[in-house]
Amino acid sequence: MAFQYGMLMQLSIMLLALLVATTRASARQGGEEDETAIALPGCKAKCGNVTIPYPFGIGDGCYFRHEFNITCNGSNPQLMTTPMIVTNISLEEGELQTRQLVNRDCYDRQGKPNDIEDPSEGGLRVYTPYTASSYKNRMYVIGCDTYAKLYGSRGYQNYITGCISECDYDISINAFDEDDPCSGMGCCETKIPPLLTNLSVTVGSFKNHTLVWDFNPCGYAFVVQKGNFTFSNTSFQELRNTPRLPLILDWQIGETDCKYAMENGTYACKGNSICLDRPTGYICVCNPGFRGNPYLHDCQDTNECALNATLCENGKCINKDGNYTCDCDSGYQIVDNIKCIKVPDPKKYLKISLGASLGFLVLLVGIFWTFRNMREKKFLVIRKKYFEDNGGLLFREKLASIPRYAAKTFTEEQLKEATDNYHVSRKVGEGGYGIVYKGLLDKQLVAIKKPKPNPQIPATEPSVQEMIVLSQINHKNVVRLVGCCFETRTPILVYEFMGKGTLYERIHPENPENPENPKNPPLSLELRLQIASEAADALAYLHHSTSTSIIHGDVKTASILLDENFTAKLSDFGASILVSEDENQLSTSCQGTQGYLDPENTLTKKSDVYSFGVVLAELLTSSKPEEERNLVNVFVSKVESGVLAEILDQKMVEGHFETAKLAADLAIRCLKEKREENSPKKRKKREERPSMKEVAAELEGLVRTMEQHPSRG
Ligand SMILES: *[C@@H]1O[C@H](CO)[C@@H](O)[C@H](O)[C@H]1NC(C)=O
Ligand SMILES: *[C@@H]1O[C@H](CO)[C@@H](O)[C@H](O)[C@H]1NC(C)=O
Ligand SMILES: *[C@@H]1O[C@H](CO)[C@@H](O)[C@H](O)[C@H]1NC(C)=O
Ligand SMILES: *[C@@H]1O[C@H](CO)[C@@H](O)[C@H](O)[C@H]1NC(C)=O
Ligand SMILES: *[C@@H]1O[C@H](CO)[C@@H](O)[C@H](O)[C@H]1NC(C)=O
Ligand SMILES: *[C@@H]1O[C@H](CO)[C@@H](O)[C@H](O)[C@H]1NC(C)=O
Ligand SMILES: *[C@@H]1O[C@H](CO)[C@@H](O)[C@H](O)[C@H]1NC(C)=O
Ligand SMILES: *[C@@H]1O[C@H](CO)[C@@H](O)[C@H](O)[C@H]1NC(C)=O
Ligand SMILES: *[C@@H]1O[C@H](CO)[C@@H](O)[C@H](O)[C@H]1NC(C)=O
Ligand SMILES: *[C@@H]1O[C@H](CO)[C@@H](O)[C@H](O)[C@H]1NC(C)=O
Ligand SMILES: *[C@@H]1O[C@H](CO)[C@@H](O)[C@H](O)[C@H]1NC(C)=O
Repeated sequence: MAFQYGMLMQLSIMLLALLVATTRASARQGGEEDETAIALPGCKAKCGNVTIPYPFGIGDGCYFRHEFNITCNGSNPQLMTTPMIVTNISLEEGELQTRQLVNRDCYDRQGKPNDIEDPSEGGLRVYTPYTASSYKNRMYVIGCDTYAKLYGSRGYQNYITGCISECDYDISINAFDEDDPCSGMGCCETKIPPLLTNLSVTVGSFKNHTLVWDFNPCGYAFVVQKGNFTFSNTSFQELRNTPRLPLILDWQIGETDCKYAMENGTYACKGNSICLDRPTGYICVCNPGFRGNPYLHDCQDTNECALNATLCENGKCINKDGNYTCDCDSGYQIVDNIKCIKVPDPKKYLKISLGASLGFLVLLVGIFWTFRNMREKKFLVIRKKYFEDNGGLLFREKLASIPRYAAKTFTEEQLKEATDNYHVSRKVGEGGYGIVYKGLLDKQLVAIKKPKPNPQIPATEPSVQEMIVLSQINHKNVVRLVGCCFETRTPILVYEFMGKGTLYERIHPENPENPENPKNPPLSLELRLQIASEAADALAYLHHSTSTSIIHGDVKTASILLDENFTAKLSDFGASILVSEDENQLSTSCQGTQGYLDPENTLTKKSDVYSFGVVLAELLTSSKPEEERNLVNVFVSKVESGVLAEILDQKMVEGHFETAKLAADLAIRCLKEKREENSPKKRKKREERPSMKEVAAELEGLVRTMEQHPSRG
């Protein structure tokens, strides 16, 4: 036991020695490297109990300007050589707490002034450039035969305010209103005018206290920090022994406003801080999330995580410059970057769906077998029949057969939770098909496409079509299907969320009058071609690279989505069909969008090419094809007669006219109409539209040349 105590003692002593040593060392270094130092290197940072931060300083060379010269008299820091004693300096507020003398006016029984009782040395004085905060201070006059005046000046204007208090009986005996003690009987309280400097107070009496001397030989007057004085029946007695009371003064680092200081070169704020204008000057404060002395060093990042261990419940706190964020435990998702909240337990749903799946297993295998057989036959056009009754189960099964595809099934509850029960604030888009909502599912931002109930269209048709098509595709420029929900009459599809919306919205911003609107920066030609190239790439992939070709059937700018980095992703596969390789000329009735439809009104690869040509024309002209039905005609005629410039969107060309022209030529070729083949002359001249592969290759070439010659404007 004793041995243990001995060890402990020794250890404590060693630790203590170490502590003293390091403290000394850092003191000796003068804090030159210490970014958190409060005073200039080599200057005393404390006087008595009061910390003196720069711009204030003790002794020559330690302060910013002479008004911040602190004289340390014993343990009392005095402002300059005045009797203003400082008790607290606040850099954040630009305030000083001082202890100011209480003015007093005392008499003897005969009514002769009694200066022995008066240690006030002239009483309260506030010297320029300091001002007494009118908001944080109050003036009091205490006594039964007392008046006082406060003098001050603002600029060249002098102000006087005052208060009178009279009473003819002893308030310590007679009860007074405790709810409102300072109501004129023995005590008078008043606000002081704002921004006054050079303050002084005089206190006097009308009858030299002769009538009230028994219980009140002195009158008192003072300005005091709000809340630090309450009048009571003991106040007369207490004030006899109270030489000073707290007072709040305002100070500024400079006497000009921020703007002038910056221009004038006298700006005193260091890095990571902001300048605050004050009525008579300015002060500096550290940015939120930073701390330090903004007059001395750049403000330093606050390590919120180290300061408060209870931040980021259910996650790990990660400090960031000026802020922090949370790395949430699994099962929790981040909200507002600073909170982890529980996500609904996916296992619950898994169990239900697992049970259901098992029950239907036999059925599934049967259906899947049929499906496989159908697919193996080379002629395959997916029809609504397959899905009308049980699209969900079939789809789920189908997805399971494509292991790389991680599409999930969601319950309706999950989707409701993710979208705040389809709250309007979550709505991000709307079309003929339905409404798109933004939501948070499994920690991932998603777009949830809720079809409009439409009795005319078989319930499952478009969305099942889309699911089937999307589940076949894994391409970086095709929007990814995250999952589906089958619990509604019409399946709801869940996609990855695309932060920048549709290409259509980007080309035709809502308020074109204001192109400076940061939400709608006009897309540059380079970005437009990049997007076109990516969309073309996706279409080429659909047409030529999958085992069964896919015809999109509804190519338009509203079907091209953009993610945060403006990467294009093709979507809206509701009108798509699957065709086998040798059936690429199959035509069926077409569901595409007016303005983008080819003249033949078919559903073939070449009709996708035509629609893409319209997209290119739209990108180059920023005109709306649906509104201007003849956009294609005008575009073709202008380009063919060599006056492309008349229809180009000049804002985005930026000197890349040659490239724009090449892109326009490509669009023209995509927009070629199939000519009648009866005239041999025409047949000779007849040009087919290029394939999507060719279009993609050409666009890629254009983008590359633009990258190599960034600007010719
Ligand atoms: C300094 O603070 C300590 C503790 O609060 C107090 O006991 C002491 O009187 C103070 N000294 C001065 C000079 O104010
Ligand atoms: C600053 O205060 C000291 C006394 O603490 C005094 O000697 C010195 O003259 C003052 N300097 C100025 C510029 O007022
Ligand atoms: C310093 O303090 C003492 C006692 O508190 C006081 O008598 C003296 O006047 C002060 N000195 C100055 C220069 O204010
Ligand atoms: C000094 O002022 C600051 C800011 O107003 C305040 O947070 C702090 O508590 C004060 N310190 C004392 C000792 O009054
Ligand atoms: C009352 O006090 C004033 C000074 O404040 C003095 O001049 C005057 O003589 C006094 N009056 C009497 C009656 O003592
Ligand atoms: C002051 O007033 C309080 C409450 O009104 C009373 O309890 C107390 O006795 C009074 N003090 C004196 C000295 O009269
Ligand atoms: C400050 O006030 C006093 C009287 O209270 C006056 O004599 C002096 O001129 C004033 N100083 C300034 C700079 O206004
Ligand atoms: C003055 O009042 C403030 C706010 O009411 C309080 O925080 C502070 O402790 C008081 N100071 C003194 C010296 O009474
Ligand atoms: C800044 O302003 C002050 C006061 O108006 C003036 O004395 C000084 O010359 C100015 N400095 C510059 C660099 O403009
Ligand atoms: C930190 O970030 C959160 C969320 O972005 C924000 O609400 C908060 O105001 C930020 N805090 C600071 C000090 O910047
Ligand atoms: C620590 O953070 C928690 C959660 O944000 C907050 O409720 C609490 O007030 C903070 N505590 C301190 C000492 O800042």
